[in-house]
Amino acid sequence: MFLARLASRNGFARHARTFSTSLKRDAAKVALLGASGGIGQPMALLLKQSPLVGDLALYDIVNTAGVAADLSHVNTPARVTYHQGLEQLPKALDGADIVAIPAGVPRKPGMTRDDLFNTNASIVRQLTETSANTCPKAIMCIISNPVNSTVPITAEVFKNAKAYDPRKILGVTTLDIVRSSTFVSGLLKNVDPQDVSVPVIGGHSGITILPLLSQANPSLSFEAAEIEALTSRIQNAGTEVVEAKAGTGSATLSMAFAGVRFVTSILEALNGKENVIECAFVESNVHPDVKYFATPIRFGPNGVEENLGIGKLSDFEAQKLKELIPELQKNIAKGEAFVKQ
Ligand code: NAD
Ligand code: LMR
Repeated sequence: MFLARLASRNGFARHARTFSTSLKRDAAKVALLGASGGIGQPMALLLKQSPLVGDLALYDIVNTAGVAADLSHVNTPARVTYHQGLEQLPKALDGADIVAIPAGVPRKPGMTRDDLFNTNASIVRQLTETSANTCPKAIMCIISNPVNSTVPITAEVFKNAKAYDPRKILGVTTLDIVRSSTFVSGLLKNVDPQDVSVPVIGGHSGITILPLLSQANPSLSFEAAEIEALTSRIQNAGTEVVEAKAGTGSATLSMAFAGVRFVTSILEALNGKENVIECAFVESNVHPDVKYFATPIRFGPNGVEENLGIGKLSDFEAQKLKELIPELQKNIAKGEAFVKQ
């Protein structure tokens, strides 16, 4: 019995080795910074299952050995490495094609995302400085809040390192997209949430999150009051989770799902898939009064290929857009000033 088990285990090991050498040559290296956290761990689990990921480098300031030991037993080809503390960060980033950053503190009830700035701005600056020096051509996927400021921080850091490529600095707003399709499909009959798409533009906090329900696919025939209520629910969905978690954190599982959807799309675009479209918060000239803005983007092998713009807005959306600009300008200026000072 023991021998039979051993033989079957060896058989499996052989199979695993073969599988691992038959990895697609273009399987990428993804570095996950903040890998031991509420978002980091489920993101790592989902990335470990991706055939597009060849190497998964887990970096955090705590617990990476445990997370990596656990994850490395999952029988999928992606190789897992772990790195802990600033000294080991360059090794985690070395050769990375994509750097995903969910490092930093989450909100507690009563806080805005901007209240996280004092702590998270320094964390993001530190991580992106090392990224700009170690893997300057990697595509940076910024999850840490406040995204409206951490993306400009990342851009300024890369400019200082003379490595700035606006096509590669991306703020991850996919959770707003995921929530929009979930909430909209909940109001429709017999519609799979994954068959509903709603572009979400602007930024990633409060009123800067602007779902374009007039551009939903399938198109919606909601009353004005329903559109207003739905818009407000999407804008406050993060707070809904923060309050439900009552001081223990913010969205982690849905964010990991959304983050891996986004990273997967970028990996597909890197591998030459055409017409890969996701919304993201990027440097942008779609609105004359803000330097960074979230819109649907077509991604290619070098990151942003084409900004698909805002499209035609309803009167309600045009008014909401006007209202969000001053807040977004403030968030962006705060991020830029933090690095410039
Ligand atoms: P968490 O506290 O559970 O995990 C954060 C992790 O970051 C921890 O493991 C911590 O050790 C690590 N960390 C702290 N300082 C670090 C440093 N200097 N270097 C590397 N790692 C460091 O928090 P979480 O729930 O995973 O949320 C993380 C961030 O993501 C928060 O800022 C949160 O607001 C943000 N978030 C963004 C979105 C979005 O849509 N973009 C959604 C949800 C959460
Ligand atoms: C979210 O939208 O869930 C995140 O930005 C976390 C938060 O603080 O709401």
